This record gives sequence, C-alpha cells and structure tokens, in this order.
Amino acid sequence: MSYFHYFSLSFIVILAFSLASRKLGEFYFHSNTQHEVPFRASFIPSKPTSNVQSTKNNGDPCIASYQDIEPLSNFDWRTTEPIKLRPFKPKFHLTMAIENTSISDLIPFDNTYLDRIRLRRRLLSTLSTEIIAAHPVAQPAVHEFYTWVFTIYLPSRYPTMFTLAPSPSAPTSLTNLITSESIPLLAPLNPLECLRTIAAHIDDDFLFLLPSPEHSTAKDQYILRAYATLFPSGFNPATKLNRTLREIHEPVPRYASKLAFSMDRFFRCMPVGRVVKRANWTVTTSRDLHVLSGTHASAAEAGGDGAGLDKAREDVDLGETVLRAERQTLHRLPGSGALVFAFKTYVYELGDVVREGRGEELACAIEGLGEGGVVGMRGYKRADVWGEKVCAFLRGGVGGEIKG
Ligand SMILES: *[C@@H]1O[C@H](CO)[C@@H](O)[C@H](O)[C@H]1NC(C)=O
Ligand SMILES: *[C@@H]1O[C@H](CO)[C@@H](O)[C@H](O)[C@H]1NC(C)=O
Ligand SMILES: *[C@@H]1O[C@H](CO)[C@@H](O)[C@H](O)[C@H]1NC(C)=O
Repeated sequence: MSYFHYFSLSFIVILAFSLASRKLGEFYFHSNTQHEVPFRASFIPSKPTSNVQSTKNNGDPCIASYQDIEPLSNFDWRTTEPIKLRPFKPKFHLTMAIENTSISDLIPFDNTYLDRIRLRRRLLSTLSTEIIAAHPVAQPAVHEFYTWVFTIYLPSRYPTMFTLAPSPSAPTSLTNLITSESIPLLAPLNPLECLRTIAAHIDDDFLFLLPSPEHSTAKDQYILRAYATLFPSGFNPATKLNRTLREIHEPVPRYASKLAFSMDRFFRCMPVGRVVKRANWTVTTSRDLHVLSGTHASAAEAGGDGAGLDKAREDVDLGETVLRAERQTLHRLPGSGALVFAFKTYVYELGDVVREGRGEELACAIEGLGEGGVVGMRGYKRADVWGEKVCAFLRGGVGGEIKG
C-alpha cells in the first residue's frame, strides 16, 4: 500500500470516551424533527432510551450539525462530473495535510454513480471478508451510521436521489430513486448486512475505528473494527481488522518515526462535530478499482533484482496506467463515539492531466517521491517500475495513446 493508503486506513476510528458522559443517545432525533424513526436500542450504547421522540440534543450545536444537512435541492448526478483531485506536490512530504469540512460534504455523488454501484454489487456477490467485516464491538457504531446515513444524511442532502417512504413524517424506508429500490430504515441486526447495504448504495468505502480496550497493551490507540472497503488500493483489508493505526501503517516508510504519534493523538482528540478531509494519490498500472495487492513493490522489484525490475518496467502498459486518488474524510459518530474513516476513489487518465497542462507538475511530483525526507516512498509506491515511462509520457505525450 502506498503510505497514503495507510494514511487512509489510519484515519479510521477511536473514541475519547469523555463523550460517553454526554447524553449521546439523544442527538439524532430530537423533538423538533418529525421523523419517527424505528431504531434499535443498541444504536445507543450508553443510554438506551425507549422514547426517541422525547429526546433532545440539549442544543449542542456540534451534535445538532449531524441532523442539519444542507440540501443539494437541484442535484443531478447524471450531469455532475467527478471531483478532480490533483493533490500532487513537487516534493513528497509525509504529513496529514488535512482540511476542515462539514458533515454535509461527507459523501459526493457524480455521473459514475450507476456504473460504480453495479461494480460494487458484483464484488459484493463474489467476495466476503476481503471487502466486508465487523468485530462484534463495532455493532453499535455500524447501526448508528446505517440509521443516520439512510434516515438523515441521504434524503436531506440528495433529495433528488433518495426519498423517505411512505412519507417524510413517518418513514419506514428510504427509496433509492436511481435504482428504484427500497432500503429499510430499521438497521439489520447483523452489522455485516448493514455494511452490505451501505456498500451497495453508496460509492464510498467506510472503515470504523474504536479505541483499544482499557487494559490492552495498545493503550489509547484506535483499532479498525469494521469496514466496507470495496476499492482497496493494493492491500487486503482483512489483514487490517483488529489492528491499531500503527499496525495498519506498518508497511508505510517512516510512518512510525514521522507520523504515528501525531496520528494517534489526532484520532484521540477528534471531537464530535468536526469533519476533516484530505486526498492522496498514486499512479497505478491497472485501472481496476478493487485491488488487493500489486500496487506496491514486490520483493523481486524492491530487492534490487535487476532482471525482475526490467521485466516489470517493460510490462507497464501506459494505456492502462492511471492517476488514482482518494478523497478521504474522518469524523466521529456522536452516539457510539466511533471514528468513521471514509474514502471515495477516483481514477484519472494521464492524458487528461497532460491536456490540463499539469503533465510537468505530476512528473515532478513523481520524481519528488524519493525526496522530501521520505526516501522509501518511491519504492513503496512502485515508482521505480512505472516512473520513467509515465514521466516521459507526461512530458511529451509519447509512448502511450492518449485516451479520452
Ligand atoms: C491512500 O491512502 C490509503 C490509506 O491511508 C491507502 O490505503 C491507499 O492505498 C492510498 N491510495 C492511493 C491512491 O494512494
Ligand atoms: C478480530 O477479532 C474477532 C474477535 O476476537 C475475531 O473473531 C476475528 O477472527 C478477528 N479477525 C481478524 C482478522 O483478526
Ligand atoms: C478546524 O476545526 C477545528 C475545530 O473543529 C479548529 O480547532 C481548527 O483550528 C480548524 N482548522 C482550520 C485550519 O480551520
């Protein structure tokens, strides 16, 4: 995985359990929403309440923000181009490079929606723990997210795509207007089923992180406890379940020395109501979205085996080579306190980068992977294999067919 992909995983979840002292059961459905939402008691870990309608968020604006989603009233997914992420910098610096954003901005949709959803469903029908898994402790977090995303977020943010049925005032299901499917608002008990439904309707991958158990050796660390990760960029998510941020990022060069401490602290201190985003990038020699391995240098390539490296370089097909980026977000669920690390994957034609006049910039960024104080990054991203061909193409448009 690229360091960034570590990073994305690393973004995933723990909880300053100081949150537990807040009336956490009470935020999503306060008295002035008309939603009468069926929900499971397990949705609220600390304070189950039998009367959702009577609960309030006590005016906490951070918690209220999870319900006050800004609508995109005229949104047309068919005419919305995918976001153009161009996060590359001349020198590679291993930093978190995060920006604040709002919870309304959590999930972007665009004209790739249907194609992506179809691909996701194909993966869901053939794969299991490689893409979906949950430890039992993650059940409340997964239920909480399921309920919020289908009851509050999607119908509020994208009313032209999702609508509550039979009526907004007494909903029992959410209608996906694009696929004409009905999604039950009552979260299935089995968190795996929740994750499958989320993955089948939303083109974003989600990872749920919870704090380490009180007496564990990994004190104050966040642990990956559940995920729906259909588009991993070169790693098998199953190997990351039950792992701390540090363990997850173990393959990232210099992560332990440069980033681990601040990442742990960042995750621990992430307050309810704050939402951050960042983007990472790499170049991949395949445009497949679901990639369990191969985007990082193999032993033969990394170990200075000249013949292996030459062969791998020769095999690079520029027609299949793309710029791959992830838009990543991190936020804390107000009820369970879990951190949700989410990412949406974008692939861009190298020819598009050239046409935008940014070929030189990307070529410099690729060459800069060996600089900026993170020497192993070049090998890690496998740039020793594709770097030369790709840079030549970016600078002169030679050696590859520019695809539309
Ligand atoms: C971005 O970062 C995440 C983890 O932090 C990593 O899994 C993924 O492979 C990276 N993606 C790209 C396109 O580099
Ligand atoms: C994660 O932990 C759970 C509960 O201890 C266990 O059942 C599961 O096999 C573990 N999964 C992995 C991949 O370590
Ligand atoms: C982002 O938001 C946090 C509070 O949620 C604030 O402390 C921080 O200064 C903000 N950062 C920027 C760059 O605005």
